[in-house]
Amino acid sequence: MEHREYFNRRLHSLLGVVPIGIFVVQHLIINHFIVYGEESYNKAAGFMGNLPFVLALEIFVIYLPLIFHAVLGVYIAFTAKYNLGNYKFGRNWAFFFQRITGIIALIFIVWHVWQTRVQVALGNAEVNADMMYNILQQPFYFWFYIISILAIVYHLANGLWGFVVSWGIAQSPKSQRFFSYVSVLVFVVVSYIGIRTVIEFGL
Ligand code: HEM
Repeated sequence: MEHREYFNRRLHSLLGVVPIGIFVVQHLIINHFIVYGEESYNKAAGFMGNLPFVLALEIFVIYLPLIFHAVLGVYIAFTAKYNLGNYKFGRNWAFFFQRITGIIALIFIVWHVWQTRVQVALGNAEVNADMMYNILQQPFYFWFYIISILAIVYHLANGLWGFVVSWGIAQSPKSQRFFSYVSVLVFVVVSYIGIRTVIEFGL
């Protein structure tokens, strides 16, 4: 692998966890406040939306890293060769799903940002529980959000495994197995938080 490509792959991997992965978990936890009532939700969402330098934070912590990760991710997804012989069968499927879920994430995120953040910026909506009730009470969006959250959380959980392996944090088969369990646990817990929120708004 050429030097610059190696650097880009490393950066791609790192950005998936810090800051993007951290942002996603934080975002799902804040939204989960709806379970404690509308007032709690509006307070939590209002706190995030009124952080100082919120636009600069969004640009440097979310948009730029995400654009880099998404562009290189699409490139990887469409040019990668599947090393059928080199990996265990299950790992190959995990890899395949990593790419599919990345594409689902991209479609969802573009739509979701348009439907929420851009509408707020245009003055068509306010960041509060009503906006999400309006969206999630429509069956199409309800299912679109459920499927996309599952895909994105899978992508993060499985990506975490890829991250600890490719950065040399988990080298022995034993520690790689340990991190497989961690990744399943992350998938279950974070999916629960996300899905519970969608159900609260949508049903
Ligand atoms: C926006 C659309 C996205 C696309 C197209 C995408 C694509 C990809 C692809 C293709 C890989 C595998 C890289 C490889 O096989 O070497 C990957 C890895 C990863 N992605 Fe994404 N991704 C997206 C969004 C996200 C989001 C929202 C998160 C956080 C929840 C995320 C977190 C990760 C992590 C942690 C990895 C593993 C890094 C590693 O392999 O070391 N990605 N992404």
